[in-house]
Amino acid sequence: MMNINEQEISETPQKNDSEVVLSVNGVSKRFCRDLKKSLFYGVQDIGSEVLGLREKGDKLRSKEFWALDNVSFQLRRGEALGLVGKNGSGKSTLLRVIAGLIKPDMGFVEVNGRVAPLIALGAGFNPILTGRENIYANMSILGLSKKEIDERFDEVIEFAEIGDAIDSPVQSYSSGMAARLGFASAIHTEPDILLIDEVLAVGDSRFQAKCFRKLHQLRQNNTAFILVSHNSHTILTVCESGIYLKKGQMLGVGETALVMRKYEEDLFLDGDETTLSSNSSLIKPQLENDNFEITAIFFRNINGEVVESPTSGEPVSLCIECRISQIIENVGFTLDIKGLAEGGETILLMNSFSDKQSLSFSPGEHEIQVEMPYLGLKLGRYTMDVYVKKDALFHLDSVESFRFIVNAKESVSRGCFYQPKIWKTVSR
Ligand SMILES: Nc1ncnc2c1ncn2[C@@H]1O[C@H](COP(=O)(O)OP(=O)(O)OP(=O)(O)O)[C@@H](O)[C@H]1O
Ligand SMILES: [Mg+2]
Repeated sequence: MMNINEQEISETPQKNDSEVVLSVNGVSKRFCRDLKKSLFYGVQDIGSEVLGLREKGDKLRSKEFWALDNVSFQLRRGEALGLVGKNGSGKSTLLRVIAGLIKPDMGFVEVNGRVAPLIALGAGFNPILTGRENIYANMSILGLSKKEIDERFDEVIEFAEIGDAIDSPVQSYSSGMAARLGFASAIHTEPDILLIDEVLAVGDSRFQAKCFRKLHQLRQNNTAFILVSHNSHTILTVCESGIYLKKGQMLGVGETALVMRKYEEDLFLDGDETTLSSNSSLIKPQLENDNFEITAIFFRNINGEVVESPTSGEPVSLCIECRISQIIENVGFTLDIKGLAEGGETILLMNSFSDKQSLSFSPGEHEIQVEMPYLGLKLGRYTMDVYVKKDALFHLDSVESFRFIVNAKESVSRGCFYQPKIWKTVSR
């Protein structure tokens, strides 16, 4: 893929570049939320087209919205492109436009070679025909002659591994079996471009691994593919470049890791990258003890500077500022951190009494610092409750629902927390 960003996107394809197998140029597609209006617009559009009066499709009519908004990119031979975005962001619509199943309202798509779409489970299959019959029907739609299909038929069946079910009607197949048959017949057409819309997700893990091995092989034989997946790990390991769609617009394009980071920030932080922590937001059920008051909660980085949001995997100190009016001994803190995305479950519970840390205070202002050599929380939004007690018994003060955001430098790994690590090989 060309290393392009939004500013550099070329409106005109580079026709002399024989490596480009797909060129999507300023593609926009509008849909209508209202069924009656949608039918009316459909008839209106056909009528205008027949009469040669078709208006430029750059305006939205009532109840219409852009499912794709000025999308442009190029795909080169053997390139693996990951397409990500939240539900309803336009990924499947883009694949449908590329496959020629729907027409864009603006822009155009140029394809240089054979496209094999694996867009919806069972799409392209006739449910009442057997698997065997469907392989013939499907591969001939993708442009293969009967002789070519005959030659490849055994390989397709061998790859799909669905046993005797090959002679049963496809309507009796499980989703995984339909995915196996779809993938096997699509790859054996030796396409120049393979479009894969989440269909592999329904296959069992052994079959998925086999598909990814096959995709790797196909790439070496110059097949390019676009892979839609909600699994960041898959996109990061399989694709070298990525596109992030949000409400039909291309918000990120280029190197996979960068695109995924932008997407995950939006996904986990709801696009809100500003900190939620602020002294004024401290929620205190009541001022419980005049002698001890939490006045602020914030973070410091390794240089002691106050940071709005700590970064996953980096050293950080969680700081609690308090005002104390008399000598208090044997004070303990409980910090209960919950993930907002995890449905408010406790992710980290820290208690200074269990850490055998008993703190004593003289009157004045103090800052308690919880030094963490690295922050294990991953990118996301969190809320923290803080409880302060004397002798683990008497309540001094508390703060509820202190909200904060954890940033990340790298793309999020799967799993619940960030684990710093170094991989080594040791010769023996
Ligand atoms: N035929 C249609 N008529 C009207 N609206 C449609 C039609 N097809 C898709 N849409 C709308 O277009 C938007 C984009 O849909 P699309 O299926 O491309 O999303 P997606 O990114 O593939 O989502 P998901 O991750 O859930 O598969 C959605 O708001 C969807 O409701
Ligand atoms: Mg989709």
